[in-house]
Amino acid sequence: MEARASLGLLLLLLLLPLPSGGLAAAPGALFPASSWGRSRLGIIGGHEAKPHSRPYMVSVQSGGVHICGGALVQRRWVLTAAHCILRRLKGSVKVVVGLHHLQDRGAATQSFAIRAACPHPNYDPKMMENDLLLLQLSGTVSRSRTRRPIALLRREPAAGTACSLAGWGVPREPAAALQELEVAVLDARMCNNSRFWHGGIAPTMICFQGRHRGAAPTKGDSGSPLVCGQPAAVAGVMSFSGPRPGDPLKPPVATSAVGHKKWIQRTLRRGCPRTRGTPQPGDRTPGAPQDEPAGTPTSTQP
Ligand SMILES: *[C@@H]1O[C@H](CO)[C@@H](O)[C@H](O)[C@H]1NC(C)=O
Repeated sequence: MEARASLGLLLLLLLLPLPSGGLAAAPGALFPASSWGRSRLGIIGGHEAKPHSRPYMVSVQSGGVHICGGALVQRRWVLTAAHCILRRLKGSVKVVVGLHHLQDRGAATQSFAIRAACPHPNYDPKMMENDLLLLQLSGTVSRSRTRRPIALLRREPAAGTACSLAGWGVPREPAAALQELEVAVLDARMCNNSRFWHGGIAPTMICFQGRHRGAAPTKGDSGSPLVCGQPAAVAGVMSFSGPRPGDPLKPPVATSAVGHKKWIQRTLRRGCPRTRGTPQPGDRTPGAPQDEPAGTPTSTQP
């Protein structure tokens, strides 16, 4: 049933032009969501979120350009993907909270420098395992209607669970609004079989698919939280997908937050060892005007 629908979609996708931008990688290679072809912009087949309906959503920015999504998990901590900024720490990475349109810099928003960046100690960039990063902000987010932390989900979501994902993707224009997408969790064993990710799915990964045909997250949605339940809680963090967004046989994959709860809670309590995450001088600028985001992002290759 589902297989037939998937096949139909695959055939449909084969007729569509491939995204431009060097996707000729080895078969079976994993594509971080932030390194997809540049012609793909934002969540595909999603819709604009109700403004500030996801007050935990943050934009991780480098040089004023959105590079990844993230979730405010405490007033001083953001959970995102390790592949987003590991090599960018020396640059001007900022986290913006309270946004709907990316260029908003009104009273609804606050922006923070990074005090410490704590990648998961077992992050494996080849296999994209443990693709998590906790960012400690240089200041504390003040709660408001537009800025509020989100809890972690208590239990791993079962196959079939309805969840959602939001992101700004790769904004075509600075006025890009937050998009959201309804998804369903896929059976991990199926996702790991030879027709799908062929053994590339670790036990702490969550495969999911858009609930509408061809709907998928894309480049720039890396780091965005996969949220499930009522009230919504973080199940995982968007990590990678296939080279063709919407390919039913290479569904998007999130790193489980539930499966890494111990590491997350310990890091929130004690901070991270200062060996890798180079702290930057705190220059907290809540509510202050920001650099204008550039219209076209620089490479978001990690
Ligand atoms: C997927 O397959 C690989 C290789 O056989 C295995 O190591 C891994 O544990 C499997 N993942 C799941 C979720 O079962």
